[in-house]
Amino acid sequence: MRAPYPAMNYLLSESAHHFSLPSMKVEKKTFADGEVYIRILDDVKNKDVTIISNILASNILELLLLVDAVRRAEGTVVRIIIPYLGYARQDKVFLPGEAVSGAVICSLLRQLNIPVIAYDVHSSELFQYLPFDHKSVLPCLAKQLPKKKYVVISPDKGGVERARMVATLLNAPMQVMEKQRKGYSVSITFTGNVRGATVLLIDDMISGGATLIEAAKAALSHGAKEVIAIAAHGLFLGDARKKLEESGISKIIVANTLPVKAGGKIGVVDVSKELS
Ligand code: R5P
Repeated sequence: MRAPYPAMNYLLSESAHHFSLPSMKVEKKTFADGEVYIRILDDVKNKDVTIISNILASNILELLLLVDAVRRAEGTVVRIIIPYLGYARQDKVFLPGEAVSGAVICSLLRQLNIPVIAYDVHSSELFQYLPFDHKSVLPCLAKQLPKKKYVVISPDKGGVERARMVATLLNAPMQVMEKQRKGYSVSITFTGNVRGATVLLIDDMISGGATLIEAAKAALSHGAKEVIAIAAHGLFLGDARKKLEESGISKIIVANTLPVKAGGKIGVVDVSKELS
């Protein structure tokens, strides 16, 4: 098993431990001109290799080089596990002249001809470019929730299926908010009834935090007594953590698909066992 993205090593070693498998050593360096160098340091000849890698920033190249290195060393990459697939929000052309980054990433992965397992991919639009085995860590997160009667809410229409899955699991009713995003600012319209309820917000990811913060405000202004949130991936960009700490949300649970530290209102669930 190998995680080319260094921050993934925390998840890799745990998952390898659950698999009872060795981790593969890889040398990675960047030359002065910015070129990336990958070399496998273990013998992978006639071995089955699983690669665990997030797709973030421009690390797709490392992943492609790693697959090439394994193949040249006569190993077989039997699967690629992607806990967090970045670029998935650019799933179509929103403004004239844009690239569809999600489609490009998926098409590159498809050309490898290796089964890909991906967790909580933002947009199902991308399934047309790469037939993922699509899985979710949300059931693992939902299991960590205090036992309460929840009203499950998706903060936007795009997240309805996700929220429905959790609502079914918890045997809870579900409602949907409407989100409008202008640049970095988010506004939420909500017409549901949550008076006296414990609201459980469901999202695939937390970036700047605005979605959950605004959704919580809407729920509380409609009389919710408490708001808890679960999201698969915690990016927590900029001052998101600070803003979430100051928000009306009492507890936020994310998975460790990204390297997040628990603290304050934020709880982190180790999903390495789920991955293995
Ligand atoms: C968008 O549709 C996603 O599902 C998330 O709601 C969004 O990416 C969260 O971003 P932020 O935390 O910046 O509002």
